[in-house]
Amino acid sequence: MSYIERIPTGIKEFDKLIQGGIPKGFTIAVVGEPGTGKTVFCIHFIGNGLQLGDKGIYVTTEESRSSIIKQALMFGYDFDSAINNGNLIIIDALMEERGDPWSLRELEVDELINKIIEAKKMLGYGHTRLVIDSMSAFWLDKPAMARKYSYVIKRRLTKWDLTIVLTSQYAVTTSLGFGFGIEHVADGIIRFKKSIINGRLRRFLVIEKMRQTDHDKRVYEIDIVDKRGLVIVGPYNISRGEFMIPASVIRKIIESEIKKEIEY
Ligand SMILES: Nc1ncnc2c1ncn2[C@@H]1O[C@H](COP(=O)(O)OP(=O)(O)O)[C@@H](O)[C@H]1O
Ligand SMILES: [Mg+2]
Repeated sequence: MSYIERIPTGIKEFDKLIQGGIPKGFTIAVVGEPGTGKTVFCIHFIGNGLQLGDKGIYVTTEESRSSIIKQALMFGYDFDSAINNGNLIIIDALMEERGDPWSLRELEVDELINKIIEAKKMLGYGHTRLVIDSMSAFWLDKPAMARKYSYVIKRRLTKWDLTIVLTSQYAVTTSLGFGFGIEHVADGIIRFKKSIINGRLRRFLVIEKMRQTDHDKRVYEIDIVDKRGLVIVGPYNISRGEFMIPASVIRKIIESEIKKEIEY
């Protein structure tokens, strides 16, 4: 079997579940409802890369650049220094500040891709970790385009020596699963989930897919801890029914997606 170079996420116990890390060059989908730990996961991925000598590009659409920097610092990653040293670029797609070369004027996929390539050129040679957190913002008004956009992003960016983490919200209450688009093109899918159990919020993750990897199939309880970040608590005996979106809801999502695609 040929050797596969793996990119650790920086969450030690998690990396063990995927034979040491994400295969280099992969595009991974990190999906889940708000508040499940997706952004924290992304911060580890970028922060760990910086520690190991990778470059980083972090596109943030739901929080400002300064919010990401503050959150990272809570877990011991100094993103400010990395930016000043030319190893990290945070593209702020939320706040458009005058004169800031690393913000997006429009939430357009073409502008996003061009900006990422510009950032990659600026960072120079070498493996770069890219996070787009989240993709959902780019197809809020045209969810039927999610799959096509995801495909375009993967096709145009993979040649740039990047390993990519794309996040996506699952907002079942808004009737559409914005995650469906990226899951179709992703080489790996990590699903985050939250649940109130006995009056307390608990969080979980499961690796649903990781190409070229004999990955763990269990649901793991996770916790987010001050100064440490995301930690794996242990396998959790949760029933499939509790974890998955109910079949009836999935059916509704698919029906509305098909309807939208016909309309387009
Ligand atoms: N310093 C901290 N200490 C403990 N928990 C934290 C800290 N910072 C963030 N969190 C937890 O992380 C959660 C946010 O997770 P986040 O990754 O932003 O979710 P999302 O899936 O929406 O991206 C918060 O609700 C909080 O529980
Ligand atoms: Mg987030």
